[in-house]
Amino acid sequence: MTEVLRLTGEAAHDDELLARAASVLRAGGTVAFPTETVYGLGALAFSDDAVQRVFTAKGRASDDPLIVHVLAEWPLDDVYRTPSAELRRLAATYWPGPLTLVGPRGARVPAVVTAGLDTVAVRAPAHPVASRLLELTGAPIAAPSANRFTYVSPTTAQHVLDDLAGRIDLVVDGGPTIAGIESTVLRVECDGTLTVLRHGALPVEWLTDEDPDRFVDPSEDQDRTASPGRAVRHYSPRTPTVAVAPGRALAAHEATAGSRVGHLGYRDAPAVLPARWTAMPLGARADLAAVARDLYATLRAADAAGLDLIVVELCGGTGLGRAIDDRIRRAASGVVLC
Ligand code: TXA
Ligand code: MG
Repeated sequence: MTEVLRLTGEAAHDDELLARAASVLRAGGTVAFPTETVYGLGALAFSDDAVQRVFTAKGRASDDPLIVHVLAEWPLDDVYRTPSAELRRLAATYWPGPLTLVGPRGARVPAVVTAGLDTVAVRAPAHPVASRLLELTGAPIAAPSANRFTYVSPTTAQHVLDDLAGRIDLVVDGGPTIAGIESTVLRVECDGTLTVLRHGALPVEWLTDEDPDRFVDPSEDQDRTASPGRAVRHYSPRTPTVAVAPGRALAAHEATAGSRVGHLGYRDAPAVLPARWTAMPLGARADLAAVARDLYATLRAADAAGLDLIVVELCGGTGLGRAIDDRIRRAASGVVLC
């Protein structure tokens, strides 16, 4: 049985529920909770057994490492081994927020969390529910997105239940998440280079105080060991899904005659669709924050609509557009019609 704790926004009531969630975590249980990006499935980061339950619930490959969540003021030496001045500066500047920093793995972090790597990914979430839960738990929480492995990430408590009901102990329902796509993941190299392992909710272009030349963006086909989350198939609906270039004209012959096709495009640049295709707008290109926020809910709705094919239009551009397009390409298992 998975228990659902529904927060109301009333401080005393919510605190009582979060104290319950924290006690489940401290006892080694699994708790899904909202962050500002997507819902995470948390367990005590320093407990081998608790973390193993997260892998089992998700059906996650054991070579795919988890992100450790901490309070922004948590001592970095507790999670990283001798964190560099640069790692400290980045954490002090950008936490709490949707930026995950990969650095040397601290001795207390079990190998199961990092899939055996000698680095660990850490972030301090900005969502008040996540930070209060960390405070009440009093320990770092390892948490991947709370979806079945390779499926679309969850942005509501209902998404979590659709995937994991009966497989986890608790879901904290704190309403829909705000950013809607996962954190940006940066690896801080010894020479000061910042390797972008995943474009995300904090686009590197927004880090205007950083020298842009420091960012290195490995090619898309980088080998899986550098950051396993870069696997081409990820965030994917079960319905066959293809991506199309922005504004690309569509032709009826591209889908089998009589098949049901859902087209996810943009309200402010509507594509002319073949007859009988269903338009399922992702929002407006002029408001990419809203597109990111609603992307996974729209993909999940399309997947539940009994379609034969989902066609998703890339939005193009840099910044948040690049992070959105990364998720769309992976949802389509890398199949992009140009
Ligand atoms: O926004 C987020 O980051 C959400 C919320 C819940 O915080 N979490 C999330 O976790 O997206 P997950 O497990 O779905 O994605 C973690 C990503 C994966 O791409 C993984 O490969 C990468 O971080 N990662 C974790 N540890 C790493 C490491 N030591 N080196 C390189 N990449 C790592
Ligand atoms: Mg994930």
